[in-house]
Amino acid sequence: MDLFDLTGKVAMVTGSTRGLGEVFAKALAKAGADVAVCGRNPKDLERVPAEIQAMGRNSAGFELDVLSKEKIKRGVEQILNHFGHIDILVNNAGTNYRVPVLEYPEEMWDLIINTNLKGYFLVAQAVVPQMIERGYGKVINISSIFGKTPLPHQLAYAASKGGVNQITKVMALEWAKLGVRVNAIAPTYFETDMVKQIRNDPERFNFINERTPMGRWGYLHELEGTVIFLAAPASDFITGQTIYVDGGWTVW
Ligand SMILES: NC(=O)c1ccc[n+]([C@@H]2O[C@H](COP(=O)([O-])OP(=O)(O)OC[C@H]3O[C@@H](n4cnc5c(N)ncnc54)[C@H](OP(=O)(O)O)[C@@H]3O)[C@@H](O)[C@H]2O)c1
Repeated sequence: MDLFDLTGKVAMVTGSTRGLGEVFAKALAKAGADVAVCGRNPKDLERVPAEIQAMGRNSAGFELDVLSKEKIKRGVEQILNHFGHIDILVNNAGTNYRVPVLEYPEEMWDLIINTNLKGYFLVAQAVVPQMIERGYGKVINISSIFGKTPLPHQLAYAASKGGVNQITKVMALEWAKLGVRVNAIAPTYFETDMVKQIRNDPERFNFINERTPMGRWGYLHELEGTVIFLAAPASDFITGQTIYVDGGWTVW
């Protein structure tokens, strides 16, 4: 058995039309998986699967807004019709909004929590039953360093990611004897649209570098090994864990 081989496995990645989700989707394809690309942007729902097909894998795009239980249900049904099953779920779709606590608008709190936390639970609820039926599955929830060590202005985001770490444990406990492993990846800063403003502000960019023991942001390819590891047989006895890919950010 190749410990890191995903040939024949089907992975579903929410929010994989750009950013880290696209990186996770392509990393899993590199390791052999077929990939259901999920998101909201029709152009990227064609582009990303086409690029994965060019890698020799089966891939297709599915409209799936994690804010709508109805759309989640429909999207998951379409994925199951197309691929037959889902072995790997990466809960990745997320968003952020940064202002001080006293100015934090209630509607932005709701948007962040509903996308980053409730969305993960609703997608897992739609996908995991067929994993349990087949006695095998991997759920990978994308958390953040802010789930453990936040910064100011990250009220709802830090709450959502702390919540992701906890729902990861609850899901892991409930499904541990049913063959479904549930773990989280908590990245530091990686250059995507979500953090573009910070990347383009020299003061904030350098603050992140100086705050990080390894002295820099992450490179996108540095997330590939962790997602492949957690999706692959190599991690079959690991569940309920959050792995920090953070250059040491959460060490101090
Ligand atoms: N970048 C970082 O430094 C960093 C660090 C730690 C954790 N993370 C986490 O990594 C994940 C991805 O972040 P990112 O940096 O790649 O962000 P991004 O570049 O802003 O991309 C976000 C992705 O999520 C999708 N999305 C947002 N709301 C959605 C919804 N309601 N339904 C379906 N899809 C939705 C977006 O789709 P659309 O194109 O349709 O908007 C997009 O594909 C998030 O969970 C984030 O918290 C990121």
